[in-house]
Amino acid sequence: MTFTAQLLSSQISDCQSPTPTLSLRQLTLFNFRNYGDLRLVLDASPVVLTGPNGSGKTNLLEAVSLLVPGRGLSRAVSSQWQNQRASTPWAVAAHLDTPEGETLIGTGRNPLDPQNDRRVVQIDGMPVRSQQALAEHVAMTWITPDLDRVLANGPSARRRLLDRMAYSFDPSHIGRVHRYDKALRGRLRLLRDGVTDAAWLAALEDEMARTGVAIAAARRHLLDRLRSAISETQSVFPRALLTLRGAVEEKLENQPALLVEDFLRDELAKARIDDSQNGTCSVGPHRSDLEVIHQAHHCPADMCSTGEQKALLVAMMLAYVRTLAKVRQMKPLFLLDDITAHMDHYRREALFEEILALGLQAWMTGTDAADFEPFLSQSQHFSVEEAVVTSLN
Ligand SMILES: Nc1ncnc2c1ncn2[C@@H]1O[C@H](COP(=O)(O)OP(=O)(O)OP(=O)(O)O)[C@@H](O)[C@H]1O
Ligand SMILES: [Mg+2]
Repeated sequence: MTFTAQLLSSQISDCQSPTPTLSLRQLTLFNFRNYGDLRLVLDASPVVLTGPNGSGKTNLLEAVSLLVPGRGLSRAVSSQWQNQRASTPWAVAAHLDTPEGETLIGTGRNPLDPQNDRRVVQIDGMPVRSQQALAEHVAMTWITPDLDRVLANGPSARRRLLDRMAYSFDPSHIGRVHRYDKALRGRLRLLRDGVTDAAWLAALEDEMARTGVAIAAARRHLLDRLRSAISETQSVFPRALLTLRGAVEEKLENQPALLVEDFLRDELAKARIDDSQNGTCSVGPHRSDLEVIHQAHHCPADMCSTGEQKALLVAMMLAYVRTLAKVRQMKPLFLLDDITAHMDHYRREALFEEILALGLQAWMTGTDAADFEPFLSQSQHFSVEEAVVTSLN
């Protein structure tokens, strides 16, 4: 089923039949990061990887994260994935159990063009022209230690998180974000170089207005979905009040998109002189922010404790996972790197219970196996030691 067909069928079915779980059944790594040759055979239950610092837990999750388009959970470049002690090109291969049956995905550096760093992708043995094809088959999300402070740090990481989430529901979203950024940079360059060609500037601002309003609309749509998933669930995790702050998003509350495009076009034209003096672009969805409030404490996320921020993030991501399962009609893979950090015993157990209740193949890592009790008996537990992965079940 194509991605669009999945979206349509999810609107019709309303979850009467149980949603199938997307699961990895076999994973092979070759010369990836600190791994030489590794093969794991799996069932559909959650996976727990424990082991000392530097053993290869995050690297294993990173390999899984390359089964969706993009740069994976570390946002690395391909040369960083190549095992530094090996010259044969790295590769990751996976057998997945999907709602359409078994799918084989391979990705890695092209052995026929080893000088080229770009990662290539094969699906069911056939090369695909664009990584975007992976999104048709795999739904996935992750929480990494980098995200632990996303609610407290600057808005750009929050926008990136929102855009990554929005992309799962609307594959053209990332293309729009790229086109918007390109037009924004082009306009800034002209203004900085003192170019006053009004038609040229207007063309770039038109692109920014059209793509910018579509970006803001997709983010608003995502937030609506997250808000309803949060309100429908009773959980130990705190309820997050989510608000998008931004001139374009706020206009979309009560105006049709075409009028908001006109508004953004006008604002950009009016801001040319100021923007050329300041070297920035003062209006548009690149200035928007996601405001997160801990509902019970009436407290903005950046004033919450580290553990409370993590709990808010986990609550948001669980809401996202539930929404993704509903819309994509498959329970996504959920990667949780170093997940036990900053979480007390009570919240850890609540998270494990939610994962079991959702029926996901979650992949979790941590240094201490005891942090995952009593969940270990219901998961596939592996120890990782110097890139050697051993089943402990
Ligand atoms: N391209 C590479 N080639 C060889 N080794 C690499 C490469 N990239 C990273 N490594 C090494 O892989 C090791 C494992 O890293 P990883 O981040 O997976 O550890 P970890 O088990 O998640 O540790 P922690 O508990 O500290 O998070 C590190 O020692 C790192 O230096
Ligand atoms: Mg790690």
